[in-house]
Amino acid sequence: MLIDNKMLINYIKLKNKILKIREEFPILKNCIHKLYELIFFDNAATSQMPNNVINIMNEYNNYYNANIHRGITYLSKEVTIAYERTRKMVCKSINAKYKEEIIFTKGTTESINIISNSYGNLLDKGSEIVISMMEHHSNILPWKILSINKGFKLKIIPVTETGLIDIKRFHNLLTHQTKLVVITHVSNVLGTTNKINILSKIVHKKQALILIDGAQAISHKKIDVQKIKIDFYVFSAHKTYGPTGVGILYVRLDILNKMDPWQYGGDMVKYFSFFKEQIIYSELPYKFEAGTQTICNIIAYYSSLKWLTKNLKLIKTWEKLLVYFIIKDFQQIKTIHIIGRSKKVSVVSFLIEGINSHDIGLVLDKYGIAIRTGHHCGQPILTNYGINTVCRVSFALYNNLEEINTFIRTLKTLIKIF
Ligand code: ALA
Repeated sequence: MLIDNKMLINYIKLKNKILKIREEFPILKNCIHKLYELIFFDNAATSQMPNNVINIMNEYNNYYNANIHRGITYLSKEVTIAYERTRKMVCKSINAKYKEEIIFTKGTTESINIISNSYGNLLDKGSEIVISMMEHHSNILPWKILSINKGFKLKIIPVTETGLIDIKRFHNLLTHQTKLVVITHVSNVLGTTNKINILSKIVHKKQALILIDGAQAISHKKIDVQKIKIDFYVFSAHKTYGPTGVGILYVRLDILNKMDPWQYGGDMVKYFSFFKEQIIYSELPYKFEAGTQTICNIIAYYSSLKWLTKNLKLIKTWEKLLVYFIIKDFQQIKTIHIIGRSKKVSVVSFLIEGINSHDIGLVLDKYGIAIRTGHHCGQPILTNYGINTVCRVSFALYNNLEEINTFIRTLKTLIKIF
């Protein structure tokens, strides 16, 4: 393998630091099938949690379990403070202007569904929604259903051969009827990054709004929703070294003020009566947080965010190295084809000639190596490349070259056997 010495030197310089960080993740010591230490290359599906996040969850469950906002009790007050502390932290980390613009949901999917159900309801007849071909199903189906129900036109932005939004053709799709443009920041299938600063300018020139799915971006990039002028930004905690069951919905305040809640229940209403039509909702953001939230996980998410913020620069450098090494390795194996050539975050999808993706995933799992196989909830983009399924490796900060070497060795053996 012809590798750049500079890359190798950079790797060696950081190696011990990463090994120390690795110690923070107890799951990596798990023996899969009681034989192999886990090699977790499925971080785009969900990333693992460091000890400080797990400890907060244990502490909450052992000593603090209570409901928020409702109580006058010591515990309720303590957990309310911790819950709201996470909101402030999210606000700061994406540079939102007001903490009221941050709504906790159960995940990216729910965040998108809130927008389609609530903001979607405000759109006039004849509106057009423009959506990219490289979206995850969760950012297609809510718009498809809305378009069917409301008679909106859904226009599809084509993707370039290298795996990015085709900006020229995107321009041509926009009209005065375009009300919303829906685009992923980073493709969960290709790992490629769309230029959302450019896209946002184009969209706003047309007086439309832009929704960015940040689920695959947030653990790799610093997001500044004000600088890039994003109207809606959505992501999940569990892809950023945090717990499952926590999603973020960022909506610019003036838009949020116009939106109605989509779920009704406790904690989101101030006053109503059986005998009056008028309902007075709670102030923002509580109006959009009906029912009991995943309090423990939202509180623990504070620690994930702190951890991520502290390590983001290192994550960028390290993941760049890992992607470099794996692509070099893949290029040495003639039967391997990488999907989407543009620069990638730490997500690389590939095919092996003559071997079914699912079989590759199953064999690797026998050796404790977790990758994702299938359509990755991205059927339209795969169809665009003329394929049905792919294998995907996706790295996090705790992965290393030794793991990549084991993975490549196993893959080579597998290719020989098949
Ligand atoms: N959306 C996640 C993925 O791409 C689950 O794997």
